[in-house]
Amino acid sequence: MEFAELVRRRYSVRAYKRDPVPEAALARVLEAARLAPTAANRQPFRVLVIRTEGRKEELGRMYQRSWFVEAPLLLAVVCLPAEAWVRRDGKSYADVDAAIAMDHLVLAATAEGLGTCWVGAFDPAAAREILALPAGVEPIAFSPLGFPADQPPEKKRKALAELVRRERWS
Ligand SMILES: Cc1cc2nc3c(=O)[nH]c(=O)nc-3n(C[C@H](O)[C@H](O)[C@H](O)COP(=O)(O)O)c2cc1C
Repeated sequence: MEFAELVRRRYSVRAYKRDPVPEAALARVLEAARLAPTAANRQPFRVLVIRTEGRKEELGRMYQRSWFVEAPLLLAVVCLPAEAWVRRDGKSYADVDAAIAMDHLVLAATAEGLGTCWVGAFDPAAAREILALPAGVEPIAFSPLGFPADQPPEKKRKALAELVRRERWS
């Protein structure tokens, strides 16, 4: 799929089929995350691949929407702040790196005809417990991964002129 078309096609999928995700497609999605750029190439993120079969109730405690556990797989991107590059003024890029990895996952999934939905509004304490995350591993984003069972809504975005400025702020 051409890149501009891929970007247009991606949307937040909030209904999923139970059809399994082909292993080869999952491998390509994960490889896209592996190749994501990170600050100073520190790669301070990890991806957890979680099967939802038989665990819907437990996993559903992290985010209480039925579609969250409807797909066969759930992906979690976590960051490891101790491994992340930190700017001289103290700004850590751990979250930024994890977000880029997540976006690579999402776009690669779209290219495979798979659906995703960024979930940031999860319960971090529940995620920590259910995924057995040790101290120093921070959950950043979740997404179901499966074939879409809904239709893309119309995209609502600000005009480019509002989002882009030339040379300086004003
Ligand atoms: C960082 C981030 C966090 C998000 N968290 C949630 C969430 O917790 N629940 C949800 O339903 N959608 C969530 N979304 C999806 C957005 O609502 C969605 O991307 C936005 O409305 C644009 O719609 P589209 O993705 O269909 O183009 C999140 C998206 C991003 C980028």
